[in-house]
Amino acid sequence: MCIRLITPISRPTVICSFPRIMALRQSSDMSKFKEVLKSAKEIVILSGAGISAESGIPTFRGAGGFWRKFQASALATPGAFKTSPSLVWEFYHYRREVASKAEPNAGHKAIAKYEAKYGKIKKITVITQNVDGLHGRAGSKNLIELHGNLFKTRCTKCNEVVTNLNNPICEALAGRGAPDENVAGSDIPEQALPHCRRHSCRALLRPHIVWFGENLDYEVLQRAEAAISTCDLCLVVGTSSIVYPAAMFAPQAADRGAIVAEFNIEPTPATPNFHFYFQGPCGTTLPVALSD
Ligand SMILES: NC(=O)c1ccc[n+]([C@@H]2O[C@H](COP(=O)([O-])OP(=O)(O)OC[C@H]3O[C@@H](n4cnc5c(N)ncnc54)[C@H](O)[C@@H]3O)[C@@H](O)[C@H]2O)c1
Ligand SMILES: [Zn+2]
Repeated sequence: MCIRLITPISRPTVICSFPRIMALRQSSDMSKFKEVLKSAKEIVILSGAGISAESGIPTFRGAGGFWRKFQASALATPGAFKTSPSLVWEFYHYRREVASKAEPNAGHKAIAKYEAKYGKIKKITVITQNVDGLHGRAGSKNLIELHGNLFKTRCTKCNEVVTNLNNPICEALAGRGAPDENVAGSDIPEQALPHCRRHSCRALLRPHIVWFGENLDYEVLQRAEAAISTCDLCLVVGTSSIVYPAAMFAPQAADRGAIVAEFNIEPTPATPNFHFYFQGPCGTTLPVALSD
């Protein structure tokens, strides 16, 4: 299986090929949405960086997408880690600090509350592209983290995945990671960066994150596809819908006949193909949409 994390700027074909959906009139009618929600049996909530924006975690698009002089997405690559594990670890140390200081917002909480209330009578799955752990901290249980988690590490040799909440994750990263663009390059020797706990291994650790250009974990992808392939309602929350493979999930569900509702502060390339569109910060729109 070779599904890679890519941003196909030049190939939005998947999200524009739904004549059946295009024929439907799009609605922003909240009471109609609530009727659909009430009768739905299997609900997928697909979230992206936008849901955490109100918790103070910047998205990659827009002003928040830079760390020092680097575009954040340029550091989230295997090539960047190979060139400078020190620089990439500083970047992730910074992201871990931001995420650990952040709190789940009203959007995360509304989703978790809905699952707690209806999770026994409906199948509710949260599929997130986010790596900040905020859905889990809000209380979401049936959660698929497509792109990994900032608070997990993976050994570059034996592949062991471990949850690590230490801050800093190693002594050498204390006081590092400042995002200021005037901060000079990174020079932490490799042996001072996080290493595998196994005595027989001791290789360099990396963040357990699916970087741009890498394959998604096969089992994680299978779980997500299974949920998408049977849901009757899909909420697309705070995602630009241009990072694959997540970008194809909601159009796949819509093409199968599932109802798709998008929650975003601005329209995305996929908006015209969805049944409902609710414009605004999802910390405001979701609590309304998911309340009785
Ligand atoms: N919090 C995180 O874990 C985090 C943060 C940045 C990037 N990323 C990663 O970067 C990639 C970026 O893809 P993406 O599509 O998730 O994010 P993105 O940065 O491409 O897009 C964010 C989307 O959220 C919308 N948005 C911003 N604020 C919002 C709000 N308050 N309410 C509703 N919508 C809002 C924007 O209009 C935009 O469409 C993903 O792979 C993700 O793993 C993760
Ligand atoms: Zn190891």
